[in-house]
Amino acid sequence: MTTRFCFFNLSLVLISLVFLRSASADLVADTCKEISQSGGVTLPYDFCVAALNADPGSQAADLAGLGVISLKLSKANATYVRSYIDQLLAGKKYDEEALKTCAEEYDNALDNIEMATLYINRKDYNGANIQVSAAFDVPQDCEDTFKERPDLQSPLTKEDDVCTQLFKIALNITKKLSGR
Ligand SMILES: *[C@@H]1O[C@H](CO)[C@@H](O)[C@H](O)[C@H]1NC(C)=O
Ligand SMILES: *[C@@H]1O[C@H](CO)[C@@H](O)[C@H](O)[C@H]1NC(C)=O
Repeated sequence: MTTRFCFFNLSLVLISLVFLRSASADLVADTCKEISQSGGVTLPYDFCVAALNADPGSQAADLAGLGVISLKLSKANATYVRSYIDQLLAGKKYDEEALKTCAEEYDNALDNIEMATLYINRKDYNGANIQVSAAFDVPQDCEDTFKERPDLQSPLTKEDDVCTQLFKIALNITKKLSGR
């Protein structure tokens, strides 16, 4: 009797685990489907799923958790771009003024991302959305800094584009969290 009861309980636990797992796996897929089909900057579905699934926490995360993960990915990539800008500055091959403008903008974006993470953890989703909206414009503003000068070519186009896509995941999730 006791053994059977335990077995029954264990089965329940296993069944719930399987369901929990598929429910959260669906959340990544559902979220990415929605984002990739929404307007604005193009975001391929596969890029979105691969990015979020790169974090082992995404399987069990709710939407707020996915928001935090998307900000973590955004932070890692913006940090990478920021240090790449320093490398380019040191190389002295590209326009210094434009690169310095980009560096400043990425510093601001990193502050915004930091703040947004705090806001999500406080469940202030509107606050988080405002911060991510500010960060979202940064990679394209950086591109525009170069485009405004016909004599210059951006050495950061690929980097800015990847960052924009990661920021878009974060932006769309915080927008959804804030109920906008
Ligand atoms: C996602 O962000 C884009 C900006 O690229 C925006 O145009 C679009 O409306 C957003 N979609 C959702 C579902 O929030
Ligand atoms: C950030 O994006 C670049 C492409 O611009 C990619 O090569 C790099 O691996 C990414 N790094 C991180 C830490 O996300």
